[in-house]
Amino acid sequence: MSSSSHHDTFTLTDNKTGKKHEVPVIEGSEGPRVLDMRHLHQHTGMFTYDPGYVSTASCKSKITFIDGDKGILRHRGYAIDELAEKSDFMEVCYLLLHGELPSPPDKTEFEKYITHRTMVHEQINNFFHGFRRDAHPMAVMFGVVGALSAFYHDSTDINDPHQRMIASYRLIAKMPTIAAMAYKYSVGQPFVYPDNDLSYAANFLHMTFSIPAERYTMSPVLAKAMDKFFILHADHEQNASTSTVRLAGSSGANPYACIAAGMVSLWGPAHGGANEAVVKMLQEIGTKKRIPEFIAKAKDRKDPFRLMGFGHRVYKNHDPRAQVLRKAAHEVLEELGIKNDPLLELALELERIALTDDYFVKRKLYPNVDFYSGIMIKAMGFPVSMFTALFAIGRTVGWIAHWKEMIEDQQALKIGRPRQLYTGKTEREYQNMDKRSKKSIFNWLWNTKEKVNY
Ligand code: CMC
Repeated sequence: MSSSSHHDTFTLTDNKTGKKHEVPVIEGSEGPRVLDMRHLHQHTGMFTYDPGYVSTASCKSKITFIDGDKGILRHRGYAIDELAEKSDFMEVCYLLLHGELPSPPDKTEFEKYITHRTMVHEQINNFFHGFRRDAHPMAVMFGVVGALSAFYHDSTDINDPHQRMIASYRLIAKMPTIAAMAYKYSVGQPFVYPDNDLSYAANFLHMTFSIPAERYTMSPVLAKAMDKFFILHADHEQNASTSTVRLAGSSGANPYACIAAGMVSLWGPAHGGANEAVVKMLQEIGTKKRIPEFIAKAKDRKDPFRLMGFGHRVYKNHDPRAQVLRKAAHEVLEELGIKNDPLLELALELERIALTDDYFVKRKLYPNVDFYSGIMIKAMGFPVSMFTALFAIGRTVGWIAHWKEMIEDQQALKIGRPRQLYTGKTEREYQNMDKRSKKSIFNWLWNTKEKVNY
């Protein structure tokens, strides 16, 4: 098959049959042009094959624009570094959900609607007690978030705009409460109720770090850094977790269930789990002397090790979020009086070496959002196991904005149902038991003599 391009169509030629197919080319407001493949199968009987969606736009969206080559990230047209510097997380939430920056009265009203939903149903406390104390906070969180659909029946009708809005605001409001509860449960401390006089980020720090026996002194610098962290994680267009939310939601599932699905996808080390993996990697490296050894491992194709916090599917330039977080990490360490933090020193040196190494330069592998975020939130007192939970708090608004955008575009709404290139056996006759030979798959899958662990 060969191809040649025209003005607003793209001609595909099947070299086997000589048949031609005109594919319409569509354009967004900016970014690459897109081949409209919706009618390809109908007209040619063929599918496209694109594992990992490397060349596939799965939807139209007005929310976030990324130019990975230039290192640009904009929400509704506003540059991320400007939002991180001039805005606050509530404002960014409003922007992502409603398309514009809020006027002063809109902002006040929006904050009131969110703030008044920070508490969770008291019975949810019991739900937490069903988990083991040593469970990973993400395992607890997506269980609890999914269970919200069992608690808030008045907001699961996705066809009712009012219910959609209530569910959206509830999820944004309750996510920090649920994350803080997961933390408190893991350390055996009592749950701390939200304080609605505090900002969104400050309230989260209060619920996480205050204890009933002592007064908690809120540091405005740390509250600001937390807020910035949430802004920087708020949305990133069609990443794995957001696409998971869209796919789950395309079947009509309720928003609480869809966001729980997104959290599961976020948890993986190639996505939101990377901030945790970065700190673990830096701790493993331990000293600057060992950096070359780890760089060599990352470059060795036979070794599955990757430099965590480096590289991105979309950014082939600096991740603009990493630049802001690098600065924020320094501010937090200064506020906490931490001089010469060994992890930060190690990270700076690793970045310096990697950015001059041919392997990383050639592949355009730069530090991503997770490279410095772990250092910052670790210094703030969060255990490594909470890192992805913090990412989930920030990303909740992005997931919801995409879910809403999809549901509200009724014309485009279709259940997500990818096709496949089948490479398995073709039709064959059923074999009776006495004709089959032993394959011994269990010998290498697991030791069959081991005691069964229920
Ligand atoms: N260390 C070493 N080599 C790497 C790395 C890395 N971190 N990332 C990519 N490469 C190499 C890769 O081996 C491949 O080399 P070659 O061309 O010789 O086969 C080349 O760079 C292209 O990589 P890829 O796997 O085709 O790229 P991808 O777009 O599929 O993967 C990624 C993107 C983020 C999964 C990957 O860069 C990675 O695993 N990074 C480490 C994990 C990480 O930091 N994840 C956080 C992503 S940002 C936050 C988020 O979106 O959640």
